[in-house]
Amino acid sequence: MAKDRFGRNIHYLRISLTDHCNLRCVYCMPEDMTFRPNAELMQDDEILILTRLFANLGIDKIRLTGGEPTLRANVVDIVRDISAIKGIRSVSMTTNGLLLTKLAQPLADAGLERVNISIDTLDPDKFKRLTRWGKVNEVLAGIYAAEAAGLTPVKLNAVIVTGYNESDVVPLAGLTAEHPWQVRFIEMMPFAGATEFQLTQMVTAAQIQEQVEVAFGTLEVVNHGKLDGEARLFHLKNGIGDIGFISSVTSPFCASCTRARLTADGILRMCLLREKEVDLLTPLRAGASLDELRDLILDAVWNKPWGHGLADGAIPLNRTMSEIGG
Ligand code: 5AD
Ligand code: SF4
Repeated sequence: MAKDRFGRNIHYLRISLTDHCNLRCVYCMPEDMTFRPNAELMQDDEILILTRLFANLGIDKIRLTGGEPTLRANVVDIVRDISAIKGIRSVSMTTNGLLLTKLAQPLADAGLERVNISIDTLDPDKFKRLTRWGKVNEVLAGIYAAEAAGLTPVKLNAVIVTGYNESDVVPLAGLTAEHPWQVRFIEMMPFAGATEFQLTQMVTAAQIQEQVEVAFGTLEVVNHGKLDGEARLFHLKNGIGDIGFISSVTSPFCASCTRARLTADGILRMCLLREKEVDLLTPLRAGASLDELRDLILDAVWNKPWGHGLADGAIPLNRTMSEIGG
């Protein structure tokens, strides 16, 4: 198991398959976002070489992210090949859900275990405004397709943005009364691309929880209040799903962070919110040996930043969220 210098076991790797996206969520990227040419992205064999290396170092959990990972050519084959790597015990995906009506079953058949689907509002007009052109009904169809394919429990990610979807907190939380879904409210984090917007329109987890409790009464704690990954979980009285709060900004979970991120262009980033990066793809393409790559990874893991510095005003400006992988 690869350990960092604070003793955290790094066993969870999020791999971005592409920085491209078929939406332009206002809190994620500018409308005129430009994407990297495919040649700059890891090719399928390069993803597999690096993932095998990480698996040898004790990574056992993979999440595929983007941009939008379902836009990647051969995504089903990539899932199948990663699932088959010795030591990998779970492969999941974070997606906007638009392509799941077509892909949920093939992905499940290829070994995908679960999906997190982003949905910030159930209202078609507001969804369009937030994503700049998305159709919420296509996402809902994707959620049902994921459920039918057994990609469960389905987790839904919602970012609440001042002036856009504050009044959607209650209907989103209310989904858990009727569905065995986990609706997770994620505090908006600042990155390059939409920094000013992210800093001024952020709604805190505490404010969201208060809205939910005004509508539904006091939430019941799940898991004795222990973190489930990065989320604090609750449920509605008589609810069949869970409600999660991911308070990355106001109450960071850095002390228990076990993750690393590999960007679509093959850069290892040990903290989502720190600019520090280690390029793996350039040395791989230049003919570095597996031992040399292994040393680069171990060194990066050892030097994983203790935590983010948002409270001190340290905002990562070298990449947008979609260029890192959420
Ligand atoms: N802050 C918090 N969450 C974000 N996401 C995208 N941008 C941000 C941001 N600035 C979310 C998406 C998706 C997941 C990958 O991250 O809504 O659910
Ligand atoms: Fe695309 Fe996800 Fe960013 Fe929205 S949040 S633009 S769906 S990558």
